[in-house]
Amino acid sequence: MPDTLTITDNRTGKRYELPISEGAIRATDLRQIKVAPDDGGLMTYDPAFMNTAACRSRITFIDGDNGVLEYRGYPIEQLAERSTFLETAYLLIFGELPTVTQAAEWKQQIGARLAVPEAVRGLTASFARDAHPMGMYLSAFGALSALYPDSKRIADEPTRRLQQHRLLAAAPTVAACGYRHGTGRPFIEPDPSLSFPGNFLAMLFTGDRPYTPHPVLERALDVLFVLHADHEQNCSTSTMRGVGSSHTDPYAAMAGAVAALYGPLHGGANEGVLRMLTEIGSVSAIPGIIEQVKAGKRRLMGFGHRVYKSYDPRALIIKQTADQVFAVTGTNPLLDVALALERIALEDDYFVSRRLYPNVDFYSGLIYQAMGFPASMFTVLFAIGRTAGWLAQWEELVNDAEQKIARPRQIYFGSARRDFVPLEQRG
Ligand code: ACO
Repeated sequence: MPDTLTITDNRTGKRYELPISEGAIRATDLRQIKVAPDDGGLMTYDPAFMNTAACRSRITFIDGDNGVLEYRGYPIEQLAERSTFLETAYLLIFGELPTVTQAAEWKQQIGARLAVPEAVRGLTASFARDAHPMGMYLSAFGALSALYPDSKRIADEPTRRLQQHRLLAAAPTVAACGYRHGTGRPFIEPDPSLSFPGNFLAMLFTGDRPYTPHPVLERALDVLFVLHADHEQNCSTSTMRGVGSSHTDPYAAMAGAVAALYGPLHGGANEGVLRMLTEIGSVSAIPGIIEQVKAGKRRLMGFGHRVYKSYDPRALIIKQTADQVFAVTGTNPLLDVALALERIALEDDYFVSRRLYPNVDFYSGLIYQAMGFPASMFTVLFAIGRTAGWLAQWEELVNDAEQKIARPRQIYFGSARRDFVPLEQRG
């Protein structure tokens, strides 16, 4: 059987044979299909990229129908159980798990760059105390673009590696700057002798007395970072690639990715879930909310996914992690509401017929809240984990000879050409 697609253009009666490779046809092959020589050729129309592959990638594999997620071939369940965030970040960026020597070097390279330039702290201090942490977070990465002008040399591999170390290391420190500013407390210097999540927790929660994170909470946060580390071509990652395709520096590209993540339909959903559960308040109020959702008046936050149509494997792991965290912190009173909401939704034909299941954000907020994070920090926590994936995808983009500046086409349906009307002659 030839790997080709035969198309008959009924407008002209002409037949075309297009090669199929890796389950796809090249959209540019359609341009030969014309009704007249000066016609620009056939395009595909795909708002929101529902069925368009914009790159070939070796990083993350998702089978949405069967709830499969793999980073570089390793199942997410195994990485969540046995790996750490730093090791997973290495795997995503370099393609292989590090050896003992490489892992030690990697920890040292990140640990040496945990401190951020003083200007970032000054920038954070210039915001109102109640500024949203994601707004402060994304502007800090824009500032880092100006503070590290060497990062413009994106064709130079050692320079790119340096920026990757800096960005991974800066993520928790920038987040801590925003948190400490918002809570009116002085900044705590990072401590590279601690684990990646342990240092982050210490920068946030050290008070008048030294702070030692509970090992279960430290591990739970690391697992959450692993679960969020990459998810192939989602909205923020395609933004990282789209902005990066103009050959800007990775800080500017990451500011764009963070901005995309901020939205309530993407990383902002974890904050939205907690606000929704708080608003529901009790199991008896759930049927009323379900009715509002079914009437199209609101969405059930933390439900549904563009790719997962059976279950989100990350949500299952998060549910187990929640049990471990609640054993230490005491249960979150909103857990009962969340469990009942999930049960009621999954028995309802509205959700079943649309294949809407809890996603990664449905339970993560309950864990974060039990650990002491305010809801406004939840999306920042997501962003810290996703930094690994953004950097891996950016590295792949920069090395991909097939990539060019991202530039979608459009179907114009505005006014036909017309002549300018002077102001005094307009009705
Ligand atoms: N609550 C109620 N109905 C929903 C929901 C939801 N959470 N999600 C989708 N639907 C319905 C839509 O109304 C639509 O119904 P219709 O066919 O009757 O019009 C149908 O399901 C398909 O929805 P789409 O919007 O076409 O699905 P899409 O793939 O574009 O959206 C998304 C995916 C954005 C995640 C959506 O499910 C959603 O808004 N969920 C809530 C927000 C959320 O949890 N986002 C986090 C996603 S995970 C992440 O980014 C980390």
